[in-house]
Amino acid sequence: MNRNIVVIGSSGMLGADLVEALEEAGLKAVTLARPGLDITRPETVRSALDRVASPCLVINCAAYTAVDKAESEPDAAYAANGDGPAHLADACRKLQIPLLHISTDYVFDGTSRSPYKEEDPVNPINVYGLSKLQGEGAVRSGLSEHIIVRTSWLYGLRGRNFVKTILKLAGEREELRVVCDQHGCPTWSVDLARCLVRISQAVLSAPESVHWGTYHFCGKGATTWYEFAAAILTEARRIRPDNLARLTPVSTSDFPTPAARPVYSVLDCSKMEANFGLVPPAWQQSLACFLELFYRKSE
Ligand SMILES: NC(=O)c1ccc[n+]([C@@H]2O[C@H](COP(=O)([O-])OP(=O)(O)OC[C@H]3O[C@@H](n4cnc5c(N)ncnc54)[C@H](OP(=O)(O)O)[C@@H]3O)[C@@H](O)[C@H]2O)c1
Repeated sequence: MNRNIVVIGSSGMLGADLVEALEEAGLKAVTLARPGLDITRPETVRSALDRVASPCLVINCAAYTAVDKAESEPDAAYAANGDGPAHLADACRKLQIPLLHISTDYVFDGTSRSPYKEEDPVNPINVYGLSKLQGEGAVRSGLSEHIIVRTSWLYGLRGRNFVKTILKLAGEREELRVVCDQHGCPTWSVDLARCLVRISQAVLSAPESVHWGTYHFCGKGATTWYEFAAAILTEARRIRPDNLARLTPVSTSDFPTPAARPVYSVLDCSKMEANFGLVPPAWQQSLACFLELFYRKSE
């Protein structure tokens, strides 16, 4: 197959793993990045995509992801997360190719006590969530051949994320205070990358039978940031027994942040299983795989 899958955001945590996963699956990936392609500048989106030979699908992993900073930089967040996807959807429609776009559990307000389904009402409680919701709307209205995948609590080898922060702080401090009253689903970027590969294969092999629309994908099983941190340290100690930091549970009110976070953002992934046959691994299993890899790479 000579057709090229265009990956945007390939220097990021998810994008980098996605490029590797596409290549492992024998699919051809072309990466487009700043300054040649800036998703906030439609003229660069059009010209960069026009230069790709035989594009067949665009996967957008690019976003403004600094949740707290977005509160003081709303224009930057809306430009990348709201306008950016609109420009991509517009360019894909003109090229008559589908768009796979990544969104977030933070489109929900966290008042539910059962896992969120795709059609549940959205109501973001921070600028990042509002900007991502705007992007979802732009993709839906701009291009019918789209898949939006909402994910949550993403971690991986690249960039800053919760797992790497806990490992780093555990080496520096005796005590770590971690929020114990926010519930969600940790997701390894490699699991999500493999999910996007499977969707790409379905889109390319039988586009007529794809159910376009919005899907959820995250690690299986819910936890809290505190329990997640405890699992990280337990698992890390199996590999490096010298990791001795003590964990203290604290409530969200003890740990004020510029952006409010939903207290519950567990996602129901059954639609993904029903339409694409994808069942995410248990988050504990993926965490163990990630830590093995993390320590092997840091040797
Ligand atoms: N991280 C999480 O916990 C989490 C949770 C739920 C959903 N998500 C979603 O998952 C997706 C991937 O997140 P991630 O954590 O992998 O992101 P990330 O590591 O922060 O990477 C973001 C990527 O976007 C690129 N980018 C930012 N603004 C751009 C622009 N104007 N034009 C072109 N490229 C731009 C960055 O490129 P540069 O190298 O040029 O900066 C980088 O490659 C995002 O849609 C995010 O909203 C993330």
